[in-house]
Amino acid sequence: MALLDTYGRAHRDLRISLTDRCSLRCTYCMPEQGLPWLAKPTLLTTEELIHLARIAVDLGIDEVRLTGGEPLLRRDLIDVVSGIAALGVEVSMTTNALGLDKVAADLVAAGLTRVNISLDTLDRETFKTLARRDRLDDTLAGIEAAAAAGLAPLKLNTVLMRDINHLEAPQLLAFALDHGYQLRFIEQMPLDAGHTWRRDNMVTGEEVLALLREHYELTPVEQRGSAPAERFHVDGGPETVGVIASVTAPFCGACDRVRLTADGQVRNCLFANTETDLRTPLREGASDEELAELVRACITAKLPGHGINDPGFLQPGRPMSAIGG
Ligand code: GTP
Ligand code: 5AD
Ligand code: SF4
Repeated sequence: MALLDTYGRAHRDLRISLTDRCSLRCTYCMPEQGLPWLAKPTLLTTEELIHLARIAVDLGIDEVRLTGGEPLLRRDLIDVVSGIAALGVEVSMTTNALGLDKVAADLVAAGLTRVNISLDTLDRETFKTLARRDRLDDTLAGIEAAAAAGLAPLKLNTVLMRDINHLEAPQLLAFALDHGYQLRFIEQMPLDAGHTWRRDNMVTGEEVLALLREHYELTPVEQRGSAPAERFHVDGGPETVGVIASVTAPFCGACDRVRLTADGQVRNCLFANTETDLRTPLREGASDEELAELVRACITAKLPGHGINDPGFLQPGRPMSAIGG
């Protein structure tokens, strides 16, 4: 069975935000003082999360991505991973890797297959400026541990911020190539809590490619599918680097994603301005079929695209850190 929207897009990928909290304070995402966190009683429990994931799997989801905030902050992470893996779907995680060195092996044993790790810089001072925490070494330790635990392919995510880390792009690629990681540069999207995003200031995918081409020969990889990243082979080798140009080259036409927030709301798009509450009916004893129907209706209402480039675009109320990217 496929979870189809009115544009014929089949939804196979569920992204679950496990918490809105984070151990870093990246300037493109969260203010220094943090945000008003979701109230504890509204957070889905381990059992509730797995229950909703099972309903999604029954609807045709075959891949679950755990996100945050920072998913490693969830105390029940291992149980969530094993509970979802037991549904017979692939479970992966997008993380900043802080503390991953301590749990990578356990996560793999629980059924985690892949991780995407945020790495915006290799320079300690730049890290402190961008993430407002002195944790570069911990991030690197997490990345190394993930690779050692067999989480592959290991993807790295870099958001480039003009005049902060954007000129570091070729060095970041050299690092990724050296270690066999797949690096992707991400255009900053208007999802920061402070609403400070400015189109004119965004480092575009094209700009990154030009920067990289000063040092490397890049040739496009043919197959793309529903992946946000447009990838390129580097210097004729098998390794690739990707560009996620959500703003200048939207890939919404091939979108196969649906999102569940830590407080139990389904979102049919990162940029959706409406959500479907599953937590309340779940807690009031709704049947699986009733919950499934709510998910179907949410997907039916999905718009063709994010609308960032349309006049009158409105940034969604929920920031990136509470949606999960
Ligand atoms: P895989 O290709 O399965 O490894 O995952 P991914 O690259 O889609 O996921 P990841 O969590 O690493 O996200 C990388 C970047 O892509 C982040 O900035 C996300 O916000 C962005 N992204 C992920 N999914 C979507 C999406 O559906 N729409 C848009 N516009 N951006 C997305
Ligand atoms: N635009 C684009 N990507 C973002 N991320 C966080 N905030 C933004 C934003 N405003 C990235 C993180 C992480 C992934 C989940 O999303 O760096 O790698
Ligand atoms: Fe899908 Fe929305 Fe992302 Fe477009 S912006 S790819 S519709 S989630």
